[in-house]
Amino acid sequence: MPSVHICEVGPRDGLQNAHQMMSTPAKKAWISALAAAGLKEIEVGSFVPPKLIPAMADTAEIVKHAIGIPGLKVVALAPNLKGFQRALEAGAHKVTFPVSASRQHSESNVRMTPDQMVEEVRKCAQYPHPDVEIEGAVSTAFGCTMQGVVPDDDVVRLASALAQFCDGVALADTVGYANPAQVKRIFRRVKNEIGDKLQGAHFHNTRGLGLANALAAYEEGVRHFDSSLGGLGGCPFAPGASGNVITEDLVFMFESMGVATGIDLDKLMAARKLMVEALPQEQTYGHFALAGVPKGFRAAA
Ligand code: COA
Ligand code: ZN
Repeated sequence: MPSVHICEVGPRDGLQNAHQMMSTPAKKAWISALAAAGLKEIEVGSFVPPKLIPAMADTAEIVKHAIGIPGLKVVALAPNLKGFQRALEAGAHKVTFPVSASRQHSESNVRMTPDQMVEEVRKCAQYPHPDVEIEGAVSTAFGCTMQGVVPDDDVVRLASALAQFCDGVALADTVGYANPAQVKRIFRRVKNEIGDKLQGAHFHNTRGLGLANALAAYEEGVRHFDSSLGGLGGCPFAPGASGNVITEDLVFMFESMGVATGIDLDKLMAARKLMVEALPQEQTYGHFALAGVPKGFRAAA
């Protein structure tokens, strides 16, 4: 049976952009509930200066909790060597680095140009990190709210550079500009350059095309997707960026197509309830949560 791998990024991409802070115990309970629903990979936080994003100040404690959950791959984002060292010390299994293809977004987000950021990731890859996976995520790969158009060539060049020393490369539509034709074109070009090093697709649903883009990437052979429960998400350093593709809608789409996700929708809804209770004022999204399971629905597995 065909299958896909979904990484829940709500505890990082979602909470970094939420109007409210989620307490540390609530984050732990939410992450445990997500794992109980069948998620095998969760991006639980980021190692950035707490002054910059106070919602991520407890990431070390969250990582320590999450690595105690059997079978869960625990991912953290880091923007530099200091963040990488903090992630290693906490025990993260995988660290993802945002390498923006837009110079303006890169300078706004990490205060480095795209090329400087590639060198920062190279430095991290050369730093001893036994058994820890490194992912280079090319962000604003489909356009940028500051720069506008991002040339495909820039994305291919950065992805190829990162593929030399990262375990995997992801392409991210940070601001929700992508369309399915563009997704097919760019994933195909990058795949031609770096082959199986191209792994993840990270889409935002800002203009409602999140699922369409995920399906387009699936048709190009992508099997690893990031998404966020309730569609939380966005980058505080990219004006206009809003929620990720919605985990429960993505799971529903794949399961109803006969593509196994390993995720139990009822248990996922229980995890959603915990998240909503912990962030009562936060706007959440999603069609599946409103409409429920169709009569006669059968999950893929
Ligand atoms: N974790 C904790 N503290 C860090 C840190 C990290 N990863 N990186 C730097 N710092 C500290 C430094 O030690 C220094 O502290 P001090 O003032 O007490 O000496 C201070 O932060 C400034 O360090 P500097 O290296 O000059 O960083 P900067 O101010 O140029 O900022 C980044 C660069 C990359 C750290 C910052 O832009 C960043 O974290 N960006 C990521 C933003 C983000 O999370 N975006 C959304 C996800 S894509
Ligand atoms: Zn994102």
